[in-house]
Amino acid sequence: MKTITVIGSGLIGRSWSMVFTSGGFRVKIYDNQPEQAAKAITEIRKQMEELEEAHMLRGELTAVQQLSLISSYDDLAQALEGAFFVQECVFENLEVKQSVFQDTERLVGEDVILSSSTSCLVPSDVFSKVQNRRRCLVSHPVNPPYYVKLVELVPHPETTAAVMNATYALMTKVGQAPIRLKKEIDGFALNRVQAAITAESWRLVQDGIVSVKDIDLVMSEGLGMRYAFIGPMETMHLNAPEGLGDYMNRYGRSITRMLNSFGPVPDFLSQTSKNIINEMCELIPSDQQHLSGRRERRDQLLLGLAKLKKDH
Ligand SMILES: NC(=O)c1ccc[n+]([C@@H]2O[C@H](COP(=O)([O-])OP(=O)(O)OC[C@H]3O[C@@H](n4cnc5c(N)ncnc54)[C@H](O)[C@@H]3O)[C@@H](O)[C@H]2O)c1
Ligand SMILES: *[C@@H]1O[C@H](CO)[C@@H](O)[C@H](O)[C@H]1NC(C)=O
Repeated sequence: MKTITVIGSGLIGRSWSMVFTSGGFRVKIYDNQPEQAAKAITEIRKQMEELEEAHMLRGELTAVQQLSLISSYDDLAQALEGAFFVQECVFENLEVKQSVFQDTERLVGEDVILSSSTSCLVPSDVFSKVQNRRRCLVSHPVNPPYYVKLVELVPHPETTAAVMNATYALMTKVGQAPIRLKKEIDGFALNRVQAAITAESWRLVQDGIVSVKDIDLVMSEGLGMRYAFIGPMETMHLNAPEGLGDYMNRYGRSITRMLNSFGPVPDFLSQTSKNIINEMCELIPSDQQHLSGRRERRDQLLLGLAKLKKDH
């Protein structure tokens, strides 16, 4: 049976563990906080039972069968024994990640794949203290990975095609939706697109064109309706009689004109930005009670969407 080691048992480490066991892999969880990995399994058990109840447990195995594949360790060497793939999920801190990979490399064979969950650090920084970087990459998940399946695979400049392909195959096997970046770049693909949306939304509110409430509706009642199923490229391809080339012949010039009228990168910490933040807080106060209520609603809605997407 194939074994994967998950290092770090927080939110993302627990999610990865559930995703990997759903694909039938044996998962060994390690955390450097004593007892933390064992506590993570208790939390995973609870979640798996709830998911099974809601008919949303992923994979062919029952919750009991999936749970029997997971074990916890307070010792890194034991946790790494027998693994062919390591998914790191520790704090988002460069020095911590570098030292985790340095320690890990000493304890595993040459061909074990070393993969990081980092959201914001590029592979050439994360793996700078590893000797053999050909087997290193970032596999960046989206929260919560159990429902949102995208994984961005980002190579180190030295990562081999075979390692990219093996990770792509693994992610596909466990039911995630991997994409390949051909080179590393700050923010990868997802966060860059997200930042572009954030910037223009912020400017439109700042310039007094629309309210905070209405810019959110542009996405939730407009663009977002199709983006849950088709991306921006296919959207354009379908929106002109003869496809994308035709679309650009018709609309390319006006898109360029509009883009040239975009303002500079916003200063999100400026005095005027405070007004935008206040406007948001009038809609949804930023106390824990209001925020956790809205988070619960978001997760329920995501669950419903995941169900819908499963059938398409
Ligand atoms: N939370 C998200 O939305 C999200 C999304 C995508 C990627 N990520 C990335 O995933 C990683 C983990 O994020 P998280 O939200 O699960 O964090 P978290 O704080 O919930 O969990 C981190 C865990 O790592 C453990 N840890 C810290 N140092 C360690 C070490 N040296 N060895 C072993 N374990 C150690 C901690 O005890 C903790 O249990 C980060 O790099 C983050 O950027 C997070
Ligand atoms: C990796 O996969 C790509 C695309 O599927 C393929 O063209 C390439 O030959 C593969 N490379 C290796 C080394 O497996």
